[in-house]
Amino acid sequence: KHQNEKYTIGFSQCMMDDVWRQAMMIEMNIEASNYENLEIIVRDAEENNQKQIDQIKELIRKKVDVLIISPNESDEITPIAVEAYKAGIPTIILDRKINSDEYTTYIGGDSYEIGKMAGTYASSLLPKEATILEVWGTKSTSPAQERHKGFMDGLDKNKNFTLLSIEGKWRKEIAHTEARKFFNSININNIDLVYAHNDVMALGVREAIIEIDSTLISNIKILGVDGAFGKDAGLEAVSDGRLDASFLYPTGGDLAIRIAMKILKGKPVDKKYILDTALIDKHTAKTLLLQSNQLINYQNKIEQQRKSMEVILNRFSGLRHSLFIILVL
Ligand code: FRU
Repeated sequence: KHQNEKYTIGFSQCMMDDVWRQAMMIEMNIEASNYENLEIIVRDAEENNQKQIDQIKELIRKKVDVLIISPNESDEITPIAVEAYKAGIPTIILDRKINSDEYTTYIGGDSYEIGKMAGTYASSLLPKEATILEVWGTKSTSPAQERHKGFMDGLDKNKNFTLLSIEGKWRKEIAHTEARKFFNSININNIDLVYAHNDVMALGVREAIIEIDSTLISNIKILGVDGAFGKDAGLEAVSDGRLDASFLYPTGGDLAIRIAMKILKGKPVDKKYILDTALIDKHTAKTLLLQSNQLINYQNKIEQQRKSMEVILNRFSGLRHSLFIILVL
């Protein structure tokens, strides 16, 4: 493309109504504001596979220059993602995986490593005999499977843990309802630790426990995953003590845009980018929260400046136009 030509990135997001994905969008926009002539077309599939398939079809028809897909469920989204790639559109898979290697690049956090760290950390918090409630994300998604497997491998084999599980499907409300149902069938006093595959589900289960008996909560450790910034997300929850810890699952939003730009400029990119994780305890949560608030403030200022710049430029071009008319007259 020529220098002044516009690039279009299509972004198919499996759902937008979620704190971690909102953080991803902010990180994408911050990165995108570094480039001129870049437009991102965002489509929200609202957790509906068919909707996501239709939206990807639309983005293929629009002939976007790069397609970023954050799949809802692997099996269902794989064929259309492969179709886009085969149609010649460079395709970036972000977060949840697909069941094929026909894509340009995969970007995502290390969910196995996260699970393993969580297992090791949980073991260190627990006595020799303990009961753990694992709260699964949607079972058909790769992060849920990997966070489970890692957790199993991370648990201390010399201790005797009883494992219980429910499926919260990545959603706070679902985890909350499923926990309420589950607590009818077990003695909730036995639970020593909750390990949820994401922070919002951890918070949902926490609320369910409090509703049943608020005195129990001080005896139960609660671990989540994500550590996103924003209202009611993981960083805030760990820093105010609602969660005991979380494990950072970077959104990869900024990197996805950087990689898309590399592809557009014809530079080589790797087949996969696996993002680092870290334990987030109360102390780190406070620091990270401060940093992310600062980042958001900067970004808001940049946006404001950009807007006033646009106003000035528009006035200027209006002025130029009238000047031209005056000269012609
Ligand atoms: C958001 C989310 C995150 C989680 C990721 C896994 O939709 O559930 O909380 O880390 O998706 O795909």
